[in-house]
This record gives sequence, structure tokens and C-alpha cells, in this order.
Amino acid sequence: MEQQHYTRIAIWLHWVIALLIIGQIIGGKVMMAMANSPTKFEIFQLHKSFGLIILILSIVRLLWRLTHKAPALPATMKPIERLGAKLSHIGFYVFMIAAPMSGWMMTSVSTPKIGTKIFKTIPWPDFPFLTRSEAAEVFFKDTHNILAIMMSLLLLLHVGAALKHHFVNHDNVLSRMLPFINPKG
Ligand code: HEM
Ligand code: HEM
Repeated sequence: MEQQHYTRIAIWLHWVIALLIIGQIIGGKVMMAMANSPTKFEIFQLHKSFGLIILILSIVRLLWRLTHKAPALPATMKPIERLGAKLSHIGFYVFMIAAPMSGWMMTSVSTPKIGTKIFKTIPWPDFPFLTRSEAAEVFFKDTHNILAIMMSLLLLLHVGAALKHHFVNHDNVLSRMLPFINPKG
């Protein structure tokens, strides 16, 4: 029989990454609104550190997903809903990697060069094959912002779908992604 729940690792990666990304989107917008100060500089460095942690965890998660099957969707779901679920999940994996990558590329082309050290300790290299220029910096800043906005919109759709499954369809789609409780099976 096909398994009915996500693996413990998949569940923890889902929620840790989800919390980090939501904090990162809100934090990113808040830091942009701050007046220039040493504190703002420190928050930018924290944003870069958390962003790179998200990138690493997302790559681990994608590899985990490619090597571990997800549970089958409820048989009651229509083909169009299955397609929607599949495409939105693929979209998330793309954003989870492309959003932090665009941030990394942005800092790799920005002038003047400000080095990156994860939490002030682990040195992080510049993205290879890129040349620093103002035009490239503007391009990656716009791309980074657009990817973050698109991910926020997908999140609204995703949460709406999860709540509909739970409260309208009364199936196990939400509960099997929750830690600490026994999946309904
Ligand atoms: C999933 C991960 C990430 C998310 C969701 C995210 C989100 C955001 C958001 C919403 C903003 C504000 C954009 C604006 O209003 O123009 C922002 C700005 C910024 N992010 Fe990220 N970010 C992520 C990862 C990263 C990474 C990995 C780096 C660099 C290593 C980075 C560097 C920056 C910088 C430097 C800015 C300021 C841009 C500017 O001055 O215009 N971000 N980010
Ligand atoms: C930025 C935050 C989030 C991201 C990036 C994200 C991403 C994902 C991805 C990629 C999957 C597919 C898992 C797989 O099959 O590999 C998934 C599944 C799921 N997510 Fe999220 N998620 C986020 C936030 C949330 C929130 C806030 C909720 C709760 C309302 C939620 C509920 C679920 C549920 C119930 C599933 C299982 C769907 C299924 O079994 O087909 N997610 N999420």
C-alpha cells in the first residue's frame, strides 16, 4: 500500500523553511523601509545569512523530495486540482531556490563589494561568472523583489488550499503535514 504521510524529515524541513521564508519576506520589506544606520547594515547582513541558510535547506529538501515519494492525494480530488497541487509545489521548489540565488547574485554584482559571512563566521563566496556593475545590481534587485512577491502570492493560494482541504473537504492533506500528531492515515 502506498504510504499515507510525509516522512518526519520532509515535515520538519517543510515547517522550518516555511517559517524562515515568511520571516525573510517580512524582514526584507521592513529592512528596506529603515533609514540608513549601523543597525540597518547589521540587519542586511542577518537577512543575507538567513537567506543562504534557506538556500542550503531548500537544496537539501529538494534532494530529499526527489528520493522520497510524497503520499498519494485523496482519491476524491479532481484531475484539475491534482494538476494545480503539483504545479504549485513545483513552483515553490523553484522559488525556494531562485529567490535566495537572486539575492546571492545581487550581492555578488553590487558595487562597492561588501563581503558575506554567514552569521559573521562562515565566509561565503561570490557567485561565479558574474561581473560587478550597477546595471546588473538593479537587474538582480528587481528579480529578487519580484520572486519574493510571487512567492508570497503562491503562499496565499497554498494556505487557502490547505485550509480548504481541512475544513471543507475534511481530508488528511493538512494533518499529514503536521508534526507531533498521528497522521490520520
Ligand atoms: C528565500 C530567501 C529570501 C527571501 C524571501 C528574500 C526576500 C527579500 C525581500 C522581500 C526584500 C525586499 C525587496 C524590496 O523591497 O525591494 C529583500 C531585499 C534584499 N535581499 Fe533578500 N530574500 C531572500 C534571500 C536573500 C539572500 C540569500 C541574499 C544575499 C545573500 C539577500 C539579499 C538581499 C539584499 C541585499 C536586499 C536589499 C535589496 C536592496 O537594497 O534593494 N536576500 N529580500
Ligand atoms: C513559504 C512558506 C511555505 C512553503 C515554501 C511551502 C512549500 C510547500 C511544498 C513545496 C509542498 C509540497 C511538498 C512535497 O510534496 O514535496 C508543501 C506541502 C504542504 N504545505 Fe506548504 N509551504 C509553505 C507554507 C505552508 C503553510 C503556512 C501551510 C499551512 C497552512 C502549509 C501547508 C502545507 C500542506 C498541508 C502540504 C501538503 C500538501 C500535500 O500533501 O499535497 N504550507 N508546502
